[in-house]
Amino acid sequence: MHDAAHQQCINPDCNATYAIDEIRVACEKCGSLLDIRYDWRRLPIPKSMSFFEHRWSTKGTGIEGRLDFSGVWRFRELMPFYRTEDQIVTIGEGRTVLQRADLVGRQLGMKSGNVLLQYEGLNPSGSFKDNGMAAAFTHAHMVGAQRVACASTGNTSASLAMFASLAEVRGVVFIGTGKIALGKLSQALDYGALTLQIQGDFDACLRRIRQIATDPKMGMYLMNSVNPFRLEGQKSIMYRVLEALDWQSPDWVIVPGGNLGNCSAFGKAFMELKELGLLKKVPRLAIINASGANTLNELYSRRNVRWRDGRYDAETVQKLYAAMDESDYHPHTVASAIEISRPVNLPKALRALDVMNGVVREVSDEEILEHRAMVARWGFGCEPASAASVAGLHRLIEEKVVSPDDQVVCILTGHELKDPNETVKYHTGVDMKAAQDSAPRQTPHGKLANQPVQVEDDLNAIMRVLGLSGGGANADLPQHKSSLPVAEY
Ligand code: F0G
Repeated sequence: MHDAAHQQCINPDCNATYAIDEIRVACEKCGSLLDIRYDWRRLPIPKSMSFFEHRWSTKGTGIEGRLDFSGVWRFRELMPFYRTEDQIVTIGEGRTVLQRADLVGRQLGMKSGNVLLQYEGLNPSGSFKDNGMAAAFTHAHMVGAQRVACASTGNTSASLAMFASLAEVRGVVFIGTGKIALGKLSQALDYGALTLQIQGDFDACLRRIRQIATDPKMGMYLMNSVNPFRLEGQKSIMYRVLEALDWQSPDWVIVPGGNLGNCSAFGKAFMELKELGLLKKVPRLAIINASGANTLNELYSRRNVRWRDGRYDAETVQKLYAAMDESDYHPHTVASAIEISRPVNLPKALRALDVMNGVVREVSDEEILEHRAMVARWGFGCEPASAASVAGLHRLIEEKVVSPDDQVVCILTGHELKDPNETVKYHTGVDMKAAQDSAPRQTPHGKLANQPVQVEDDLNAIMRVLGLSGGGANADLPQHKSSLPVAEY
């Protein structure tokens, strides 16, 4: 299948293409983001979306059973970049629920049946990231990657660590000091990833890991959402929403915006479904920033930066970033998952806003916490960043941009138990994390204890910890067996 797929630079003045089995973190010629593109005429495309429904009844632990069980690979004809099905990696991701949330809707003044919550926290590692990891690990498996790495505000690291452990490749995660919710840190440690706590925030971690992953000598496969294969898997969130609505589009999809990978994937999903004639109506998109990390809203709503046939006003973006540097600005929000000021997928998010006639808003930490509590009280719960979508819906209703008659899907990106500290603090005023920070530290004594390694934001220091100083890719990082395909776990 993969001959009909390639990687392509999204910059229309470049349009460089790369083979599907090349490892790239950006276009080599111009540095822009890459897309996965398909020659659909050479691929078996279902005549209608209802084709995918028969897969719900597949049983068994063979390859077909496993792929059909996955809420990502059930839709594999819409992301056919793999060569053969036995290359596909899955851990049973994407079995998530679209809940009719009438009780939440009533709080917001919406008509019954019109507020729907897509619970991506029900994924194996507890966040939507598993959708993307299934696809990116499939590509990593295709190219024989032995070490995979990411920078993360927490959920990407948890998901990467889980997939890396099951695929028996070495997982390395870079997290900002003190910036990660405890549930997420505990997952990365528990699943055995080498966890580097860099002195800096997410933006610093991502800059550093991109630098490392760009150098082929380092042998580090990048799992952040600049990896275009991640976004292929995340398209499936929209397929599942459509499926739950019997293949009718809602009026709105509302999603929190951090590094802007998820919204970009949604835009690509709808762009392709339109192109393939598989869908008539494209829903509108609302991307919600936290006020303390509002780069997209600043650029889109205030400075009018738009996608114009593949081009956008990069100068205005650079001006904003230069001003941030000058004032030593760092984002700050209770929604630590989206505490990001330089979203790497910005151009693709602008494209998604164009395709889906979108809007951008920002909401305060207080609004985020109140709406998180609302989802918990009248739903299954979610972490703070996820609740930005519901807070954003509330704002759009007040502004009369969304009407009570509109059908709205809010994406709840992460599980409530990712960040229990914020929940306890909301209800009791007690900050458990601060209490723990000041408590005396004990030496871990579990047989599988895997402590985070504190390291300066300095390339040489990081290379030393990775065992790469002077040794290149073959240095003495603990070696794992090569990855296993789906059928083995
Ligand atoms: N919600 C949650 C719970 C997240 O973890 C993230 C991103 C987002 C929303 C934003 O999604 O980046 O695609 O716009 N978390 C990343 C991480 C950055 O490292 O876990 P996005």
